[in-house]
Amino acid sequence: MSGKFTTSLLAAGLALAACSPSRVDDGARAPADVAAAAVPAPVPAQPAAAPAGAEAALPVMTVYKSPTCGCCKAWVDHVKAEGFQVEVHDLDDVSEIKAEAGVPERARSCHTAIVEGYAIEGHVPAATIKRLLREKPGVAGLAVPGMPTGSPGMEVPGQPADKYDVLAFDRSGALTVYESH
Ligand code: CU
Ligand code: CU
Repeated sequence: MSGKFTTSLLAAGLALAACSPSRVDDGARAPADVAAAAVPAPVPAQPAAAPAGAEAALPVMTVYKSPTCGCCKAWVDHVKAEGFQVEVHDLDDVSEIKAEAGVPERARSCHTAIVEGYAIEGHVPAATIKRLLREKPGVAGLAVPGMPTGSPGMEVPGQPADKYDVLAFDRSGALTVYESH
Protein backbone atom coordinates (compact mmCIF):
# COMPACT_ATOMS: atom_id res chain seq x y z
CA MET A 1 0.00 0.00 0.00
CA SER A 2 2.62 2.52 1.00
CA GLY A 3 4.74 1.53 -2.00
CA LYS A 4 1.83 2.15 -4.31
CA PHE A 5 1.10 5.44 -2.60
CA THR A 6 4.68 6.60 -3.15
CA THR A 7 4.48 5.65 -6.80
CA SER A 8 1.25 7.60 -7.09
CA LEU A 9 2.81 10.71 -5.62
CA LEU A 10 5.76 10.38 -7.98
CA ALA A 11 3.44 10.00 -10.95
CA ALA A 12 1.46 13.05 -9.87
CA GLY A 13 4.64 15.04 -9.38
CA LEU A 14 5.93 14.19 -12.81
CA ALA A 15 2.65 15.14 -14.40
CA LEU A 16 2.64 18.43 -12.52
CA ALA A 17 6.11 19.23 -13.74
CA ALA A 18 4.95 18.74 -17.29
CA CYS A 19 1.59 20.42 -16.65
CA SER A 20 0.07 19.10 -19.82
CA PRO A 21 -3.01 16.99 -20.28
CA SER A 22 -1.07 13.76 -20.25
CA ARG A 23 -2.51 10.78 -18.49
CA VAL A 24 -1.72 10.36 -14.80
CA ASP A 25 -2.29 6.72 -14.05
CA ASP A 26 -2.62 5.95 -10.36
CA GLY A 27 -1.77 9.48 -9.34
CA ALA A 28 -5.21 10.64 -10.30
CA ARG A 29 -6.94 8.84 -7.48
CA ALA A 30 -6.61 10.14 -3.93
CA PRO A 31 -5.35 7.59 -1.43
CA ALA A 32 -8.11 5.60 0.20
CA ASP A 33 -7.04 6.45 3.74
CA VAL A 34 -8.01 10.06 3.13
CA ALA A 35 -11.66 9.07 3.47
CA ALA A 36 -11.13 7.96 7.05
CA ALA A 37 -9.94 11.39 8.22
CA ALA A 38 -12.10 13.18 10.76
CA VAL A 39 -14.48 15.92 9.69
CA PRO A 40 -12.48 19.12 10.08
CA ALA A 41 -13.49 21.65 12.68
CA PRO A 42 -14.53 25.10 11.49
CA VAL A 43 -11.57 27.35 10.77
CA PRO A 44 -11.53 30.98 11.86
CA ALA A 45 -11.19 32.36 8.33
CA GLN A 46 -14.86 32.21 7.40
CA PRO A 47 -15.62 33.84 4.08
CA ALA A 48 -18.03 36.74 3.92
CA ALA A 49 -21.67 35.93 3.31
CA ALA A 50 -22.52 35.26 -0.33
CA PRO A 51 -25.16 37.30 -2.06
CA ALA A 52 -28.56 35.66 -2.21
CA GLY A 53 -29.06 33.80 -5.47
CA ALA A 54 -25.41 32.91 -5.86
CA GLU A 55 -26.05 31.63 -9.39
CA ALA A 56 -26.97 35.11 -10.54
CA ALA A 57 -23.91 36.85 -9.12
CA LEU A 58 -20.94 34.57 -8.73
CA PRO A 59 -17.98 36.09 -6.93
CA VAL A 60 -14.65 36.95 -8.46
CA MET A 61 -12.14 34.13 -8.39
CA THR A 62 -8.42 34.87 -8.38
CA VAL A 63 -6.34 32.22 -10.15
CA TYR A 64 -2.59 31.77 -9.77
CA LYS A 65 -0.97 29.64 -12.44
CA SER A 66 2.15 29.12 -14.46
CA PRO A 67 2.16 31.11 -17.72
CA THR A 68 2.96 27.94 -19.68
CA CYS A 69 0.29 25.66 -18.23
CA GLY A 70 -2.21 24.68 -20.92
CA CYS A 71 -4.51 22.70 -18.66
CA CYS A 72 -4.71 25.63 -16.23
CA LYS A 73 -5.92 27.81 -19.07
CA ALA A 74 -8.49 25.16 -19.99
CA TRP A 75 -9.72 25.08 -16.38
CA VAL A 76 -9.99 28.89 -16.30
CA ASP A 77 -12.13 28.68 -19.46
CA HIS A 78 -14.31 26.08 -17.70
CA VAL A 79 -15.03 28.19 -14.61
CA LYS A 80 -15.62 31.28 -16.78
CA ALA A 81 -18.12 29.33 -18.87
CA GLU A 82 -19.85 28.38 -15.61
CA GLY A 83 -20.30 32.03 -14.69
CA PHE A 84 -17.34 32.90 -12.47
CA GLN A 85 -15.52 36.16 -12.98
CA VAL A 86 -11.85 35.27 -13.08
CA GLU A 87 -8.76 37.31 -12.42
CA VAL A 88 -5.66 35.43 -13.59
CA HIS A 89 -2.15 35.96 -12.26
CA ASP A 90 0.69 34.18 -14.05
CA LEU A 91 3.52 33.21 -11.71
CA ASP A 92 6.65 31.19 -12.36
CA ASP A 93 6.30 29.59 -8.93
CA VAL A 94 2.84 29.02 -7.48
CA SER A 95 4.11 27.07 -4.44
CA GLU A 96 4.29 30.14 -2.21
CA ILE A 97 0.60 30.85 -2.88
CA LYS A 98 -0.23 27.22 -2.10
CA ALA A 99 1.63 27.42 1.20
CA GLU A 100 -0.12 30.68 2.15
CA ALA A 101 -3.47 29.18 1.27
CA GLY A 102 -2.73 26.13 3.42
CA VAL A 103 -2.93 23.59 0.62
CA PRO A 104 -1.44 20.37 2.04
CA GLU A 105 1.58 19.13 0.08
CA ARG A 106 -0.08 15.84 -0.77
CA ALA A 107 -3.16 17.56 -2.18
CA ARG A 108 -1.35 19.89 -4.55
CA SER A 109 -1.89 20.20 -8.26
CA CYS A 110 -1.08 22.81 -10.91
CA HIS A 111 -2.99 26.07 -10.34
CA THR A 112 -4.41 27.57 -7.13
CA ALA A 113 -7.47 29.80 -6.98
CA ILE A 114 -9.00 31.85 -4.18
CA VAL A 115 -12.71 32.56 -4.02
CA GLU A 116 -14.52 34.06 -1.02
CA GLY A 117 -11.65 33.09 1.25
CA TYR A 118 -11.57 29.48 0.10
CA ALA A 119 -8.60 27.98 -1.73
CA ILE A 120 -9.37 25.92 -4.82
CA GLU A 121 -6.50 23.66 -5.82
CA GLY A 122 -6.29 22.03 -9.22
CA HIS A 123 -9.03 20.83 -11.52
CA VAL A 124 -12.04 21.20 -9.19
CA PRO A 125 -15.32 21.28 -11.16
CA ALA A 126 -17.15 24.63 -11.15
CA ALA A 127 -20.32 22.90 -9.91
CA THR A 128 -18.42 21.70 -6.85
CA ILE A 129 -17.16 25.22 -6.17
CA LYS A 130 -20.74 26.50 -6.37
CA ARG A 131 -21.76 23.83 -3.86
CA LEU A 132 -18.90 24.93 -1.57
CA LEU A 133 -20.08 28.55 -1.73
CA ARG A 134 -23.66 27.50 -0.96
CA GLU A 135 -22.79 25.20 1.92
CA LYS A 136 -19.85 27.21 3.30
CA PRO A 137 -18.30 24.37 5.30
CA GLY A 138 -15.61 25.16 7.86
CA VAL A 139 -12.72 24.14 5.63
CA ALA A 140 -9.82 26.06 4.12
CA GLY A 141 -10.51 24.85 0.62
CA LEU A 142 -10.98 22.10 -1.94
CA ALA A 143 -8.41 20.19 -3.95
CA VAL A 144 -8.22 17.70 -6.77
CA PRO A 145 -4.69 16.34 -6.32
CA GLY A 146 -2.73 15.39 -9.41
CA MET A 147 -4.47 16.01 -12.67
CA PRO A 148 -7.03 13.29 -13.31
CA THR A 149 -7.98 12.72 -16.93
CA GLY A 150 -11.53 13.85 -17.54
CA SER A 151 -11.62 16.45 -14.79
CA PRO A 152 -12.49 19.95 -16.09
CA GLY A 153 -9.59 21.20 -18.20
CA MET A 154 -8.06 17.71 -18.34
CA GLU A 155 -10.35 16.15 -20.93
CA VAL A 156 -8.44 14.00 -23.40
CA PRO A 157 -10.36 13.11 -26.57
CA GLY A 158 -10.81 9.38 -26.90
CA GLN A 159 -9.74 8.69 -23.33
CA PRO A 160 -12.17 7.62 -20.62
CA ALA A 161 -12.37 9.81 -17.54
CA ASP A 162 -10.54 8.73 -14.41
CA LYS A 163 -12.41 8.38 -11.18
CA TYR A 164 -11.29 11.08 -8.77
CA ASP A 165 -12.21 12.69 -5.47
CA VAL A 166 -12.55 16.35 -4.64
CA LEU A 167 -10.93 16.66 -1.21
CA ALA A 168 -11.63 19.28 1.42
CA PHE A 169 -8.69 20.40 3.56
CA ASP A 170 -8.40 22.47 6.68
CA ARG A 171 -5.55 24.53 8.09
CA SER A 172 -4.22 21.56 10.06
CA GLY A 173 -3.71 19.70 6.78
CA ALA A 174 -6.51 17.20 7.40
CA LEU A 175 -8.16 15.91 4.22
CA THR A 176 -11.70 14.61 3.78
CA VAL A 177 -13.57 13.55 0.66
CA TYR A 178 -16.00 16.31 -0.29
CA GLU A 179 -17.26 14.79 -3.51
CA SER A 180 -16.45 11.79 -5.71
CA HIS A 181 -16.52 11.78 -9.51
CU1 CU B 1 -3.59 21.14 -14.57
CU1 CU C 1 -3.87 24.08 -13.59
